[in-house]
Amino acid sequence: MAKSYDVAGLRDVFPSSKKITYLDSGFQAPMCVPVKEKLEQFIASSFEDAGPKSGWIDEMEETRRKLASFINASPEEIAFTKNTSEAMNIAANALGLKEGDEVLMLEGDHPNNAYAFMNLAQNGVSTRFVPMPERVDGAYVAQYVQDNTKAISMSLVTFHAGHLFDVASVGRLCRERGIHFVVDVMQGIGVTPVDVKAIGATFVGSGTHKGLLVPQGLGFLYWNREFADAKPAYMAAITVENPPADFIARHDNMALAATARRFEIGNFNLPGAMALGAALDLINEVGVHEIEAHCYDLGDRLIAGLDKLGVKLVGPRDRKARAPHIYVAALPADEWVPFLERMNVRVSPERDGIRISLGMFSDAADIDRFLKVADEKLASIAA
Ligand SMILES: Cc1ncc(COP(=O)(O)O)c(C=O)c1O
Repeated sequence: MAKSYDVAGLRDVFPSSKKITYLDSGFQAPMCVPVKEKLEQFIASSFEDAGPKSGWIDEMEETRRKLASFINASPEEIAFTKNTSEAMNIAANALGLKEGDEVLMLEGDHPNNAYAFMNLAQNGVSTRFVPMPERVDGAYVAQYVQDNTKAISMSLVTFHAGHLFDVASVGRLCRERGIHFVVDVMQGIGVTPVDVKAIGATFVGSGTHKGLLVPQGLGFLYWNREFADAKPAYMAAITVENPPADFIARHDNMALAATARRFEIGNFNLPGAMALGAALDLINEVGVHEIEAHCYDLGDRLIAGLDKLGVKLVGPRDRKARAPHIYVAALPADEWVPFLERMNVRVSPERDGIRISLGMFSDAADIDRFLKVADEKLASIAA
């Protein structure tokens, strides 16, 4: 039976949604009650009882299990990172790419994904940007693959226009051709269902401060352990299979952990990981498919409204090609972002307009308020 979508109830869980017309979840999530309570619990236990570090670590491991199940992975395949950039850099350096190898990427994709690979130039690895059309799938990418193409890296959802790419078919192409595939799911996860087995990548990385609802400073990296040769560029005690109990590093104890722990470096963002556990409980309670469907419906309403105003949508319109929650309206950002801010409507400047991005708590009234404010401004410009 389909769950009913209680958006009014969710607005109580995201109180700022009742004060601001918040259309900027693609920038960062406003804090929700369960995340705030979890962070307060962390602060209280640290402040009042000097904190049970082992208990916090247990909670982090519980979050690792929840996150793994959320993306159809096993906990052994998940490393916690600082953010997407760190996840992408770990991945780029773990693939064993050599001088003369090439990495394919999409022109204009997120720089935090691209630079990680561009930096491999110091090892003689080249990167090539291929044009980004509205739809990217395996057949499209195949035409650019050369003999020396050893990896492809791309985003699931683009931040600047809301494309939703068919990463599963690119993953199939990569498996057929023996090419590594790395996917940045930062802009999609939490709203678009992510199934790492269906994607079939070597690595999938993300931060957690958008659809996963926690403050900045936590990310993760999924590692497909079939690619057992993948090795970290850095080491720490936790990276090895048997971290020395006496805290003395020895040359005969450098065997890497068999799990994704081999990619983790030093102490963790424990409050972030604990908050992520609470956020995942909320997302699972609402249902990621329900969040996706809700955002698609709001997106349809927004597109119809923009059409009526004669404002062009940048990026795909079709549900098959667009993400549920990211829409760019071709309105000059320099003028419109500050204007909307004054009207208590929060959006982001984007390269071709203003980005309206939705979260699980967004509602039809948010869309209608944006459209009404935009209509009034357009009318005043025309007058
Ligand atoms: C596709 C994508 N990748 C990465 C990032 C951010 O990278 P990081 O988590 O390293 O700050 C963003 C947005 O902030 C994004 O939209």
